[in-house]
Amino acid sequence: MERKPFYITTPIFYPSDRLHIGHAYCTTIADSVARYKRLAGYDVFFLTGSDEHGQKIQRKAQENKVTPIEYVDKIVASFKQLWDKLNISHDDFIRTTENRHREVVQALFQKIYDQGDIYKASYEGWYCTPCETFWVERQLTDGKCPDCGRPVEMVQEESYFFRMSKYQDRLLKYIEENPHFIQPTSRRNEMINFIKGGLEDLCVSRTTFDWGIPVPFDTKHVVYVWFDALTNYITAAGYLHDRDKFSRYWPADIHLVGKEIVRFHSIIWPIILMAMGVELPKMVYGHGWLVVEGDKMSKSKGNVIDPIQLIDEFGADAIRYFLLREITLGMDGNFSREALISRINADLANDLGNLLHRTLNMIGRFNHGVIEAPGQAEAVDHELMKLAQETSADYERLMEGMDINAAIKQLWTLISRTNKYIDETAPWALAKDAEKKSRLNTVLYNLAETLRIVCILISPFMPNTAPKIWQQLGIETDFAAVTLNDAQGWGRLLPGIKVAKPEPIFPRIEEKPAAEETKAAEIKQPAQAAAIVTPATPEITIDDFAKMDLRVAKVLAAEKVKGADKLLTLTVDLGTEQRTIVSGIAKHYAPEQLVGQNVVMIVNLKPAKIRGIESRGMVLAASCDEKLTVVTAPDMPAGSKVK
Ligand code: ME8
Ligand code: MG
Repeated sequence: MERKPFYITTPIFYPSDRLHIGHAYCTTIADSVARYKRLAGYDVFFLTGSDEHGQKIQRKAQENKVTPIEYVDKIVASFKQLWDKLNISHDDFIRTTENRHREVVQALFQKIYDQGDIYKASYEGWYCTPCETFWVERQLTDGKCPDCGRPVEMVQEESYFFRMSKYQDRLLKYIEENPHFIQPTSRRNEMINFIKGGLEDLCVSRTTFDWGIPVPFDTKHVVYVWFDALTNYITAAGYLHDRDKFSRYWPADIHLVGKEIVRFHSIIWPIILMAMGVELPKMVYGHGWLVVEGDKMSKSKGNVIDPIQLIDEFGADAIRYFLLREITLGMDGNFSREALISRINADLANDLGNLLHRTLNMIGRFNHGVIEAPGQAEAVDHELMKLAQETSADYERLMEGMDINAAIKQLWTLISRTNKYIDETAPWALAKDAEKKSRLNTVLYNLAETLRIVCILISPFMPNTAPKIWQQLGIETDFAAVTLNDAQGWGRLLPGIKVAKPEPIFPRIEEKPAAEETKAAEIKQPAQAAAIVTPATPEITIDDFAKMDLRVAKVLAAEKVKGADKLLTLTVDLGTEQRTIVSGIAKHYAPEQLVGQNVVMIVNLKPAKIRGIESRGMVLAASCDEKLTVVTAPDMPAGSKVK
């Protein structure tokens, strides 16, 4: 079947400095959309690049006592290194200093000039060099740039002007007739108001510096950097140079840009294209800004976050996941190290990591590592299958609507439900009873099948992790050939394959940012309590004692809590129900020593979240100095009351 083309772009970034986490955020979104579209069967063209001309870059080079091209070469190399580390799958990287681009910009300028839409006049007004933007007096805010708040410079020069005003009504009509052209809607309304306020003709050449593309018929002028920059999107699509490619990919499906440059993309760019008689892009999507502890990132504040350092510390997939999960597309979002670590621990190490680990571990222990064919499905199985199928359908709908954040949330709902399915079906208990073999096989198959589906659906966000999960599940087909369709419909996992030994995909980060964790794990005494050597225990009545529901519980399974050397997770049988308890006895017991023991526990203790795991109850133990023994009641049936 002929694959439909899909063209997505990021802004081309200024190589005036190394990129920070905000740039990485934008490119991660675009990459995830590109990967999702490839998974969905599209022929994707994903473009990023660098915007290398202009006064700002020329000044930076001067400060560094190198030529502009030497300066940008070095920084552009760092961009490419970052994209490589972040696993960005762009199909092309365009530099505005390339010949292919200069030719297109000059041809455009010439054509628009020849048809009379560019004219020469003299410009006198304000210029913001960091934004490379012209302003008229009335647009300034307190005499400063209304976009970035920095000082503007008075410029007076002979310039070429682009007759933007002539296209104002056509543009407005286009925006009104194409409700999806500018997204999200809040940005669209802003743009409509801006245009209705009246468009000025745009100054499109400069003579006070020379780091730019010369105006072809008047070489003391260089082309204004935004006119040069925006054109990159058609250069890379093959305009003038590759007719087939251009007709295949143009118009672009999405120009993904930061909210501060939506105006350039939804006003200047469409008017350039209208003047050229070229179709307009289908969508300009303005994403929000990443702020740090509520503040805009800036060198002077010293709060610029280097994505390379973060990737080295936490891995690309964890950073990608955090950016996509934490921030709703279109809104601003906060970056904090604490939030990052808590997402890694709760969502990746705990929810996803544990699901994989528990599943593979049980298939290993109970079925010699083989995923056996499932037997008859029961109600709880049907519920899981239904949720898995609904999740992949919702995921597709949400991703098509660019609601990446919601798509990820849906996936994690499935992951949590599947973890709960393990507790409900208790495979460790089924494994003890030969008559329940078929039931055990069903449960283990369903777990592996859910993981197979999850693995496909997370792959656009976590392209390193997904193939690892695939490999651990033992699936032999090449992950690179997987399609979205493979995640739709239950039961495509072929029984009989052998799973690999589970390897942790996301180790827990042992920094304690979240106060909440420590609070739950250890009941903290107030500081002064340390001074009281033997606190007197106040008397209680028999009624006080009766409030404690103590019972015998049989330990069904015990597992070390990853990254916590004192903690074990116990699964216990209370006769009427099963529970998960986190217990601080790992220094004294190996997990296998506890399995099968009848311990005593308090069952009506308020549940606590320990390391992200909900612990419902507490096992009683006698302790003295370094010694500790769990209180047991051998031979008593599970659920017996202790009083
Ligand atoms: O504007 N949060 O380049 P630029 C989120 N060369 N995204 C951020 C961000 C933040 N704190 N900071 C930057 C230019 N970005 C022009 C573009 S396109 C034809 C020319 C992202 O290096 C965001 O996508 O200033 C923003 O639009 C882009 O980087 C600006 O990068
Ligand atoms: Mg900028």
